[in-house]
Amino acid sequence: MTVYRSMIKLVFLLGLATNAFAAAQPDTKQTKIDGTQGYRDEMHRPPEPWKGPPRSGAKVYADSCATCHARTTQGAPLPDDDVEWRMRAGKGMDVLMAHVIDGYKELMPQRGGCPNCSDAELKAAVLYILGQSGITPGSMSANK
Ligand code: HEC
Repeated sequence: MTVYRSMIKLVFLLGLATNAFAAAQPDTKQTKIDGTQGYRDEMHRPPEPWKGPPRSGAKVYADSCATCHARTTQGAPLPDDDVEWRMRAGKGMDVLMAHVIDGYKELMPQRGGCPNCSDAELKAAVLYILGQSGITPGSMSANK
């Protein structure tokens, strides 16, 4: 009798365990496919338009540009590296802006990685970066 009871208990417990296991492991295959699909959609979705007031250069810099420009690992010039920025500023604002908008060489992404930034916001960010090296548009040589 006791053996019979413990058998029932065992089956019951096994059932619980299996259910718990199943619950803890949702259909991972499906989740993975959905996850990947979500990621793909994310990649191709046009950027959410920015509905707030125009962002300052400092904000755009902090939110987008700093990912690369605040560290030495990406090869992006640091904002207060005046030697580097003086050299780049020599290209003139139009060229710098074209490089920000279209991307530049391998690592500088289009629109500095801020697809919903307006040209004006991107320009504010460039001016902010240049300002950290004491470069003002007035002090830049060629086109402003
Ligand atoms: C994914 C990394 C990354 C992000 C994000 C990024 N940059 Fe850059 N940026 C670079 C790198 C790397 C260079 C240097 C490219 C070179 O000269 O080889 C660069 C160069 C530049 C230059 C100089 C271009 C020239 O003609 O010399 C400007 C201006 C610039 N970035 C502005 C920005 C602004 C503004 C943002 C944010 C809106 C931004 N970057 C975001 C990586 C990045």
